Amino acid sequence: MNGLAWQAEYCSGVEVIDQEHQQLLQLLQQLYEAIAQGKAFTHVEPLLLGCAAETQRHFQHEETLMADANHPQYLSHRAAHQNLLRDLNRLLDAVQSQPSTLSTTTVATIGQLVIQHICEEDLPMLYLLTHPEELARQQAEQLTAETCF
Ligand SMILES: [Fe+2]
Repeated sequence: MNGLAWQAEYCSGVEVIDQEHQQLLQLLQQLYEAIAQGKAFTHVEPLLLGCAAETQRHFQHEETLMADANHPQYLSHRAAHQNLLRDLNRLLDAVQSQPSTLSTTTVATIGQLVIQHICEEDLPMLYLLTHPEELARQQAEQLTAETCF
């Protein structure tokens, strides 16, 4: 068990995003297995870069959905993505300059960060996209707050 398996509790109800989350975890699984099988870095590196590219593309997609919906958590969620990408890029740089540092533990740690983001930040954010009345209420609240200050 490496903690990277998809769980029903990660479902948000926004199907396209749930599919992307599932795919991201599958890519991390493939990366994890390639490292566990002792595959050469020339084989592992494209998987690693694929995970990084897919994460970036997926974050962009979420941010577009949020912008289109005038989502009240847009700025804070985008900041969370930027923080996560900064950490992942640091890790990527370290691994590329010293491939021997890439281990299954590293991938499991990345997976935990991704899963934590899904559970703690994506699910509340996506909830509003599937609950228009609550979204409208929070948008109105935000507008009132902006008018007051
Ligand atoms: Fe997100």
